[in-house]
Amino acid sequence: MREQIVPASAISGAVELPGDKSISHRYGMLAAIAEGATKIANYSSGADCRSTLECMRSLGAGVDIRDGLVCIAGQGLDGLREPAGMLDAGNSGSTIRMLSGILAAQSFVTRIGGDESLSRRPMDRIMNPLAEMGARIEARENRFPPLTIRGGRLHPIEYTLPVASAQVKSCVLLAGLYAEGKTRVHEPVRTRDHTELALREFGADVEVQGRSITVTGRPRLVGKELRVPGDLSSAAFFLAAALMVRESALTIHNVGLNPTRTALLDFLAEMGAQIKILDVRAAGGELAGDVLVRKSAVRGGLLEKARTAALIDEIPVLAVLGAASEEGLVVRDAAELRVKETDRIATIAENFRRMGLKIEVRADGFEVPGRQSFHAAELDSFGDHRIAMAFAVAALIADGPSILEGSEAARVSFPEFFDTLHRVAG
Ligand code: S3P
Repeated sequence: MREQIVPASAISGAVELPGDKSISHRYGMLAAIAEGATKIANYSSGADCRSTLECMRSLGAGVDIRDGLVCIAGQGLDGLREPAGMLDAGNSGSTIRMLSGILAAQSFVTRIGGDESLSRRPMDRIMNPLAEMGARIEARENRFPPLTIRGGRLHPIEYTLPVASAQVKSCVLLAGLYAEGKTRVHEPVRTRDHTELALREFGADVEVQGRSITVTGRPRLVGKELRVPGDLSSAAFFLAAALMVRESALTIHNVGLNPTRTALLDFLAEMGAQIKILDVRAAGGELAGDVLVRKSAVRGGLLEKARTAALIDEIPVLAVLGAASEEGLVVRDAAELRVKETDRIATIAENFRRMGLKIEVRADGFEVPGRQSFHAAELDSFGDHRIAMAFAVAALIADGPSILEGSEAARVSFPEFFDTLHRVAG
């Protein structure tokens, strides 16, 4: 699909965003292996989280969507059954990587794969720890989907993550639910902790000491009523739009404010963004609140090391904001961007080139000068949801109407994105 985006004179009003993608995946998976019913309000409407629900349904969990609530009939830790065919994770790295932890402990063989983009993403990062726990997994070229997972009895391990990855940490913790004893994961930098929080909500015993997380195997997980906060990574597109477009003042209601995700707000505030957070509340171990943002002169800055890892999903839109900032943006230590839904360093650079924007690309990052003029262009999502949304935002400050090819990619995390954008952009 092609979407036309015209320059905006203000981003204003109030929006409420779909449920957080990371939290939705975790609630969907844990509900299926808990005992009894779980009801989830504001479950992400994106295709990725639907892929998780479809997989859980194929594994025998009852999944029903009623009155906007996702209702899951849990089968208990040992109640999943062999699916009739190959599980389809679609575009979702979170689904295949985290679910593999559960599949590795089943007494049946499962095949799981996904679309063309997912089929190019590395899975050795989860295959290695799961093999250490006793699972046998085959993959295309030993590292790419589809995976054939021959599960069985797992034993607990102590595992130090070689890359900062919440998906890998979660995969090992979920497998650890099935291993007798304590499974421990050490992370090089702190990554999002939604799995730890969700596990506790469902009744598992999880201990966190610094950057080491320990789960005790064979817990009794019990179904719950839960509400997913809005997705801060989706809010990032609206924050950037409001910061860049003159006369903007926007309220984003009910945004997830888990401290392992809010590096974005800290970074923007350091750059001089006028952002206020109101009415913070806690639910299901997670925090949520309302975020107010106004057009601001943003200085620009440097992203490296742990901060790059914490902001990895927001980098496409931060690149756009960087080009409009006073001093530009430098991104280092971001090799992971090369193995996301697209090679995001390459797809950011290509859309920059089309808009006449300067960018200097490195193997593991890039540098974007500030105070640049955005030219209307034919842009492309390259099938990547965050590239689609980042460049829709860039088009708001271009010198004429732009076209975004492949705009349907946004459906992966945010099907309502363009409707919401057109509404707040008047
Ligand atoms: C996610 C973790 C991050 C992130 C992804 C979602 C999660 O990936 O980029 O969009 O829900 O755990 P990594 O685990 O590769 O860091």
